[in-house]
Amino acid sequence: MAEFSLPNNSKIVKGEYFKDKTGSTNLKKVNVYRWNPDDGKNPRIDTFEVDMDNCGPKVLDILFKIKNEIDSSLTFRRSCAHGVCGSCAMNVDGINTLSCIKSHSDIKGELNIYPLPHLKVIKDLIGDLSNLYKQYESIQPWLKTSKTETEKQEILQSQKDRSKLDGYYECILCACCSTSCPSYWWNGDKYLGPAVLLQAYRWISDSRDEEKKERLKKVADELKLYRCHTIMNCTNSCPKGLNPAKAIGSIKKMLATS
Ligand code: SF4
Ligand code: SF4
Ligand code: FES
Repeated sequence: MAEFSLPNNSKIVKGEYFKDKTGSTNLKKVNVYRWNPDDGKNPRIDTFEVDMDNCGPKVLDILFKIKNEIDSSLTFRRSCAHGVCGSCAMNVDGINTLSCIKSHSDIKGELNIYPLPHLKVIKDLIGDLSNLYKQYESIQPWLKTSKTETEKQEILQSQKDRSKLDGYYECILCACCSTSCPSYWWNGDKYLGPAVLLQAYRWISDSRDEEKKERLKKVADELKLYRCHTIMNCTNSCPKGLNPAKAIGSIKKMLATS
C-alpha cells in the first residue's frame, strides 16, 4: 500500500499569544496563519486579542490594527481597500473572500484567517499567484482586431452586445474562485481554473474581437477546460457575486454547437 508523508515543516503548530494591552472589555480573539520563509520554522497560528472598540468594521481593519499596534511583521497584500483590486483575497473563517469588504461582525466568536488555500505561501497571508497570472497571460486578454490604429480609436458596440459582457467584465481576478475549486487544487498546473476561464469567456463574448474561433480552439482541451466538473464552489465563493461556472458552461456549449 502506498504511504504518504508530509515534509516535517508542513505541520502547522501553535504560535504566540498576544494578550491585549489596552484594557478593553470588548476583545476579539483573532487566529492568524503565519509563516516566514527565512526562519526555517514550521507555519504557526498566532492568536491576537484585538480591541474592537477602536477598530474599523472590516476584517482588513483588524489586520491593520494588528500590524500597526501589535506585530508589525504581519504580512498581507492589499491595495484599494474597496473591493476593486482583488489583492486582499484570503480565507476568512473557512471562506475565500476579500478582507476589505468582509465585515468582522458577521463572524461570531473567534476569527480565523488563512491565506487562500492550495497556493504556495510566500509569507503569512500572501499566496503565490504566479501560475494563475501565467495562465491569464496565455488566454491573451486583450482585444484582437485587424483594424488600423486610426480605426481603433473607437470601436462601436451596440448596447445589446455590450450587455453580453455583464457579469464578466466585473471580475477583479482575486482568485477566490480558482483557489476554492477542487479541480484546480489537483490540476492547477494544467487546468485553467474558473477565474481564467471566466476571463477567456469575457473575450470570446466581445463583439469587437475578431478571434472568437481561435480563442475557443485554444481552450478546447481536456485539461485546460474539461477538468471542470461543475462542482460550483467557484460561484459560491466569488465575492463580487459573479458566476464563473456559468461562463465555463457557456464555453462548453459554444464548443459543442460550433
Ligand atoms: S470570478 Fe469572482 S472570485 Fe473569480 S477571480 Fe473573478 S472576482 Fe474573483
Ligand atoms: S464549477 Fe468547475 S470551475 Fe467551478 S468549482 Fe466546480 S470544477 Fe471548479
Ligand atoms: S484591497 Fe483591493 S479588493 Fe481588497
